[in-house]
Amino acid sequence: MQRPFLFFCRPGFENDCAAEVQAFANEYNLPGYANTKLNDGYVRFYVLDQTSEEIFFKELDLSELIFARQWFWAKAELTNLDPADRVTPILEAAGQFGLCQNLLVEHLDNDSGRELSKFCKKISTPLTIACEKQGIVQKAKKLKESELQAELQLHILFMANDHCYLGCSLVGKASNLKGGILRLKSPKDAPSRSSLKLDEAIQVLMSKKQSQAIFRLGHTAVDLGAAPGGWTYQLVQRGMQVTAVDNGPMDKKLMATEHVIHLKENALTWLPQKPVQMLVCDMVEKPSLVAQLMTKWLIQAKTEQAIFNLKLPMKKRFQEVSDCIGDMCDQLDEHEINYYWQAKHLYHDREEITVYFRRKMPKLN
Ligand SMILES: C[S@@+](CC[C@H](N)C(=O)[O-])C[C@H]1O[C@@H](n2cnc3c(N)ncnc32)[C@H](O)[C@@H]1O
Repeated sequence: MQRPFLFFCRPGFENDCAAEVQAFANEYNLPGYANTKLNDGYVRFYVLDQTSEEIFFKELDLSELIFARQWFWAKAELTNLDPADRVTPILEAAGQFGLCQNLLVEHLDNDSGRELSKFCKKISTPLTIACEKQGIVQKAKKLKESELQAELQLHILFMANDHCYLGCSLVGKASNLKGGILRLKSPKDAPSRSSLKLDEAIQVLMSKKQSQAIFRLGHTAVDLGAAPGGWTYQLVQRGMQVTAVDNGPMDKKLMATEHVIHLKENALTWLPQKPVQMLVCDMVEKPSLVAQLMTKWLIQAKTEQAIFNLKLPMKKRFQEVSDCIGDMCDQLDEHEINYYWQAKHLYHDREEITVYFRRKMPKLN
């Protein structure tokens, strides 16, 4: 059997995901090709020889990919599973991969995949118990973190209730969330649903340490294109004092917190007098224009960090994103600014991706 690497993405973004994975393989000179179908919600990537497969597996890191939410190396495919006993053949196949640290029972985020959500939840517990009993998966609950030695994560992806792919990824290099999806509930008093995008971005793109350092009482932020205030709400919830720039009206309850100053200014030209800790921007503008604006703020040290959306209604989205972020990096390099960046097509994003840039400060002795 051919052993494809499977990459999960938002349905409709298969070509962007494939282009990105292909670029990754090319970077390592690994021969391979992608296979996609529009709206499938995943990409198969075939690496052409065994040595290259192993290198690809070791080098892949989800945090470096923008359009993929999850990945694993599918080493077995089971069809016509008997509804009376699906577990036995799954255990036989999974037993060949080596000891795994945990098991994810997953489905895709397309129409047929979502219908399998209940089935996956139901079968997850018996499968986990059986895998632990057989020594395929470590009994995580009984072990301390230092005792978890296995480096593999076991994935079982159900395509139908009688059809699944089995395989593994490396712990820490794929998502430990089913389908790579962080599900969040919209807070009742959030001014807009778009609030969830920033909540997810903070949790996915920033480490706990980075969030703790930046989200503190008294720290300041600017929200460009803020109305009605979903993103500002997230910053205020995390203790920040926010300047919200937008000609549109802000949510009254949010303004009553007295943690927000609303400026009816043009967000493309306005700059603060004092630098802030965090800049966020969710304006519906050309991606290259937003990237330029963020670069200006970072180069002029008007902010330490920036989280922003690049809206991508165009066809070659991966190309557009590469150009925008490439230009940003070139300009920051020219100004000898050290930085870290990561970008992701988040679960709560639609025709857009979310980008995080952080200026790295030199360490003081
Ligand atoms: C997608 S909405 C932002 C939603 C917001 N993040 C939230 O969570 O509620 C984009 C906003 O950008 C504002 N906007 C677009 N161009 C702007 C500009 N040049 N100056 C100020 N605001 C602008 C619009 O008025 C609109 O309110």
